Amino acid sequence: MMALLVSAFVGQTALVYTDPTAEEFGELTELELAGREIWHENNCQTCHQIYGFGGFLGPDLTNAASRLNRARLDEILTKGSGQMPPFHMDADQIDAVEAFLAALDRTGVGQARLVREIQPSAVFSMIDQHCGENPMTDAARAGFELFKVRCSACHTPFRATPLGPFLAADLSLVTERLDGDAIERTMIDGRPEKGMPPTGLSADERKSMKGFFQWLADEEPTLRPRCDAAKEVLDIPWFNFK
Ligand code: HEC
Ligand code: HEC
Repeated sequence: MMALLVSAFVGQTALVYTDPTAEEFGELTELELAGREIWHENNCQTCHQIYGFGGFLGPDLTNAASRLNRARLDEILTKGSGQMPPFHMDADQIDAVEAFLAALDRTGVGQARLVREIQPSAVFSMIDQHCGENPMTDAARAGFELFKVRCSACHTPFRATPLGPFLAADLSLVTERLDGDAIERTMIDGRPEKGMPPTGLSADERKSMKGFFQWLADEEPTLRPRCDAAKEVLDIPWFNFK
């Protein structure tokens, strides 16, 4: 047990000290260092977090530079605000803090944001339900069944899915964006350079798929608001925290 703990400690230490992030972002300038000095001297960390670490009385400031303008910074670092005490800083000090916050902001996202989304399974049952009101043709139904098996790993109607650097479109209005031939070509060739492989669907299957896309586009005005209303806050997986 002891050996296990020691090797876990050594492993963790090695990971922390070989993290290449610092090299990636280079050294802080003199002004940015002055800002960090002010940060330390005034114990800003007792109330604020950076990358989620620190006190919780004030907000996380990792990305504060993106949401604050100079006027707000002037106000808050001289007069304070609410539970933020007045530090009566002069313009040079504020310059330094501003530069330090901007340097922090460049290093990435400090806190994962909550995402309101709808699960693909919820979208598909919504579509099934709606078929009770406005049935699909047999061909469109066949297309829908194929879609669930062959496309839904990447595409979900009424929500775009981020796939690495690409976005798999929601396809609910694809018949309005692209003509039949362009949809056909996309299904045959895929868009390998954008992360979509050729689908391997037969001519009949592609026809059914287009039938499904047409039904989706016709029903979009009813279905989209229902899907929007059903969005819920999804759990953020730990690996999305940066
Ligand atoms: C006693 C706790 C406390 C300390 C110490 C403190 N702050 Fe704050 N800070 C707060 C609170 C609370 C707020 C939110 C105030 C508000 O929104 O009205 C805040 C807000 C801010 C904001 C605006 C953030 C935003 O998103 O609007 C900045 C920038 C800021 N603080 C910087 C600093 C700096 C720099 C220091 C150190 C020199 C510092 N704070 C020290 C409590 C503190
Ligand atoms: C591995 C993920 C993946 C799968 C599986 C996939 N696609 Fe795609 N698809 C994408 C991505 C990514 C794009 C966006 C490409 C781009 O930006 O041009 C896309 C784009 C499309 C487009 C063009 C949309 C537009 O507005 O330009 C169509 C049509 C399409 N896919 C149909 C399908 C169909 C039908 C299936 C199932 C038979 C399918 N896709 C399966 C990833 C996928």
